[in-house]
Amino acid sequence: MAHEPIGTLDFHNLGFSYTKTKWNYLSRWRDGKWDDGILRNEDTLTIACTSTCLHYGQEAFEGMKAYRRKDGKIQLFRPDENAKRLQRSCERLLMPPISVERFLQAVTAVVRANAEFVPPHDSGASLYIRPYVLGVGDNMGVRPAKEYLFGVVCTPVGAYFKGGLSPVNFIVTDLDRAAPNGTGQVKVGGNYGASLYPHEAAKEKGFADCIYLDPTTHTKIDEAGSANFFAITRTGKLVTPKSSSILPSITQMSIMEIARRNLGMETAEQDIFIDRLDDYAEAGACGTAAAISPIGGIEYHGKMHVFHSLTEVGPVTKRLYELLTGIQYGDVPAPEGWIFPVDESNSLK
Ligand code: PLP
Ligand code: COI
Repeated sequence: MAHEPIGTLDFHNLGFSYTKTKWNYLSRWRDGKWDDGILRNEDTLTIACTSTCLHYGQEAFEGMKAYRRKDGKIQLFRPDENAKRLQRSCERLLMPPISVERFLQAVTAVVRANAEFVPPHDSGASLYIRPYVLGVGDNMGVRPAKEYLFGVVCTPVGAYFKGGLSPVNFIVTDLDRAAPNGTGQVKVGGNYGASLYPHEAAKEKGFADCIYLDPTTHTKIDEAGSANFFAITRTGKLVTPKSSSILPSITQMSIMEIARRNLGMETAEQDIFIDRLDDYAEAGACGTAAAISPIGGIEYHGKMHVFHSLTEVGPVTKRLYELLTGIQYGDVPAPEGWIFPVDESNSLK
């Protein structure tokens, strides 16, 4: 696939889809070590038909973004947290971990090489970065692969949920995406395979996505298929679900910190019972792709529960959105260690 001539890209009207960029990174693990990796133009892979990533789900990935500052410079948001989470995902699936240094080197090399695809500051868009690890090579039995690929590919994106800062609605599904003590806490392909059916069913009914309940009791909110969940209590506390089957979200832990530091709010990880939604004044989905997306209402057992409003973002959600995106785009001072500048000279190419 030829990459889009950069002049024809409308950065102000991007959705969340793949536009081919110029360079991606690829490294191979063989005989007990990762090679140095290369930047390459080709955005396809040739792998064995019996690769474990294809049959047994031996695959993990990350999602992160590069943001254009007002002064034109590019920055990453807490990329060391993505690196550490990928290590935990690799460990869970018996894949060789990538060091934090190597991860950051590969990600920054890809961003630098594709700097022209990082959307302008005022576009509301960003460069989405997708690091991934795959088990490859001949393998028929259910056992870990003998070879692995670590790749990083990127694409410019706009809003994940179509509403942007206008609320979107969710519906509770009866299905589960991850088991307690399964793989819900890591970012592996199998969790997303399991989420495709309930997600499509939700979309067919006009909802942005579905909400999963805790798989053991089906009484408490877990998360959405592609984002974490948060709510603001009627007493002004920011709460997020406490669960062993959800992905530890970097966005969620960041907004908890922002709420405490910048807004003096109380925060807690706690049970959020699906039959107690009246306790909450506002709710939202949060994640790298989703940023902060206000939730207008949640349908559960045929009944729609409306939070703040179906059409207007609530005041606390709006403030959290402004602070989070302000930090990510370099307009609001960030807590120490959150921002990782990417200078545009490239050593790997
Ligand atoms: N939960 C799921 C299932 C996700 O796919 C994501 C997105 O990465 C999140 C939560 C949010 O995580 P983060 O904020 O680290 O992007
Ligand atoms: C992300 O927010 O980075 C995700 O991974 C969510 C989705 C696009 C899979």
